[in-house]
Amino acid sequence: MMVPAERAKARAASYAAALVEDGMVVGLGSGSTAELAVRALAERVRTGLRIIGVPTSRRTAALARRVGLELCDPESVNRVDLAIDGADEVEEQSLALLKGRGGALVREKLVARVADSLVIVVDETKLVSCLGTRFPVPVEVVPFGWVWCAHWLEELGGQPALRRKPNGRPYRSDNGNLILDVQFGQIEDPERLDAQIKRLPGVVDHGLFLDLADMIVVGSASDIRILRR
Ligand code: A5P
Repeated sequence: MMVPAERAKARAASYAAALVEDGMVVGLGSGSTAELAVRALAERVRTGLRIIGVPTSRRTAALARRVGLELCDPESVNRVDLAIDGADEVEEQSLALLKGRGGALVREKLVARVADSLVIVVDETKLVSCLGTRFPVPVEVVPFGWVWCAHWLEELGGQPALRRKPNGRPYRSDNGNLILDVQFGQIEDPERLDAQIKRLPGVVDHGLFLDLADMIVVGSASDIRILRR
């Protein structure tokens, strides 16, 4: 028996998986909701759908292989038809996103950008009126000189914390980098912050995904709501 929160995520994931058409190259997002979409796609593949997946994390790649999806390297495709991914926060008016709690933000943003269409699957708890309401902004930095990056992020008004694993060691992304979770509070001007963070040396990318989502599928325990740009 699924609890209501799981049902909401599963509903959104199935709706998004149903948008995929035969022959598509599909971006496979990361996180619990995106993983439900991977499972829903696998169901469709079992009944004849042919797709090739581009996973956004090692964890998603492992799951996709386990459930029988065919995968390819990003180098072997120059386009992705549709990507399905989750989000930590969705700003309802603009469809701007905050992502990266799962640490896959760099690959997720690459796939989101190359995809013709980005479909985000969430439950209602992810909707906010202003980004930064609930979560810090994850910033992926190269290990060399990360303390300097943390200092520059403080100068931008943030409070950075180095992400750690449960054993206390620094968390490493699939790219071998560190993640600083930076609390900015409510972000009034995400475009400005996006540009300011991207300008810092050592920063690979960050979790603000602006102007990327085409459709948000918001699942609740009983129905689906679609937000479009
Ligand atoms: C992974 O790095 C994230 O961007 C996830 O997509 C995001 O954290 C949403 O995850 P859940 O669906 O598990 O909430």
